Amino acid sequence: MTDIMQKITLGILGLGTVGGGTVNVLQRNTEKISGRTGVEIHIKSALVRSLNSERICDCSGIQMTTDHLDIVNDPEIDIIVELIGGDTLAKECLEIAIANGKHVVTANKALIAKYGNELFAKAEANNVSIAYEASVAGGISIIKALREGMSGNEIEFIAGIINGTGNFILTEMLEKGRDFSDVLAEAQALGYAEADPTFDVEGIDAAHKLAILAAIGFGMPIDFESVYTQGISGLALEDLKYAQELGYRIKHLGVAKRTENGIELRVHPTLIPEKRLIANVNGVMNAVLVRGDAVGNTLHYGAGAGAEPTASAIVSDIVDVVRRISSGNHSASAVPHLGVAAELLQTQKIVTVSEFSCGFYLRLTVNDEPGVMAQVTQIFAEKNISIEAIIQKEPTDEQKIVQIILLTEECREKLLDECIQEIQSLSAIQAPAVKIRVEHLS
Ligand code: NDP
Ligand code: HSE
Repeated sequence: MTDIMQKITLGILGLGTVGGGTVNVLQRNTEKISGRTGVEIHIKSALVRSLNSERICDCSGIQMTTDHLDIVNDPEIDIIVELIGGDTLAKECLEIAIANGKHVVTANKALIAKYGNELFAKAEANNVSIAYEASVAGGISIIKALREGMSGNEIEFIAGIINGTGNFILTEMLEKGRDFSDVLAEAQALGYAEADPTFDVEGIDAAHKLAILAAIGFGMPIDFESVYTQGISGLALEDLKYAQELGYRIKHLGVAKRTENGIELRVHPTLIPEKRLIANVNGVMNAVLVRGDAVGNTLHYGAGAGAEPTASAIVSDIVDVVRRISSGNHSASAVPHLGVAAELLQTQKIVTVSEFSCGFYLRLTVNDEPGVMAQVTQIFAEKNISIEAIIQKEPTDEQKIVQIILLTEECREKLLDECIQEIQSLSAIQAPAVKIRVEHLS
């Protein structure tokens, strides 16, 4: 680095998994990064909760503090990198930083999903930008791809495995027969899970991310509250196995789809044909399938969580902001926060769950007696829903209870729920039906 090189100063809020990974990448690749930006990036200070905790990075030369105001009010700091998580202190920090004219880089999808619309407006009013690539799908540059690379397309749908913890759990359960809570504990130890892991297993984290992607893809304000959200905690290993027998994989999928009735926004376990690439995305890896009218299908794949994959996205955002500052264009991003100027974003009608349209997997637990299969198929026939596949498993105990597994063609969810209601009233039915949505993604 030369003496005349411009210096840009960072303050990092949070030095845990992602904060520590970010310091490591910035320190290890310092020459390369300054070669690419022509700027020396200096980490001045970092916020932590506990000054004495062990860190995964070398903190020598970094001023450590437990008072966020030391950083967000520091006039020497140009960029605030927010990696504490949550939506209280993090929000306050961003608001102060923005008011002080500082650019922000964040990995905080909970914050962006809930308060992105207002925070982006504040940033634009103060001529600074909020960069948030790491908030969706860890190390995959999906925001850049969607917002910039696909800006010439009308987006038809986005379907993604966008929670690394959930995908890690499903993979380990199916491939190694491991217990759900045991794998979750490992995901926490590896730094993949959220501070509150129910965000991962109940689908909330994926819903945050889907809301962000849908806003960019469909040019609408972020609408997290409208995302239909179902997690993986209720999934049974037997359904993962039956799906495999039928030539499918169950993945926790976020789907944002343009339909004639409006936009479907939903995250839930989903059967996907095993021949699709995305069905074979395993472990902590994420993948996002985006279909644009011009480009067709694009699949974006990479590590969805973890220290350095996420740091890769954070550092890429830092580089973008550094380039903007060093070019003298301090003003708001040339690329609008959601890819469309705020005043041109259009609120969209969001489709309710009963109007969702997809295929369905049903597992019925019934008495092994003659005529049950005929009764079930009759109910579907009356609603004009075709059954694409059906299997009946041998009774496993003396009570002669059998499992019937069937796959339907695409139909309205309301119609399917009416069938289930009728089926549940049959005397042979022994347990509530298990319903899982199917997406062919063809
Ligand atoms: P960690 O829990 O590992 O780290 C959080 C850091 O913030 C810690 O250093 C903690 O201090 C500090 N911190 C938290 N609360 C306070 C507070 N009130 N005052 C001062 N310091 C505080 O979280 P992650 O690094 O995993 O996640 C950070 C953000 O990145 C979250 O928004 C998360 O959703 C997001 N993210 C995480 C990914 C991952 O793979 N982990 C991937 C993509 C995004 P101390 O260390 O002293 O406790
Ligand atoms: N907890 C999140 C996940 C971190 O497992 O995907 C990455 O956003």
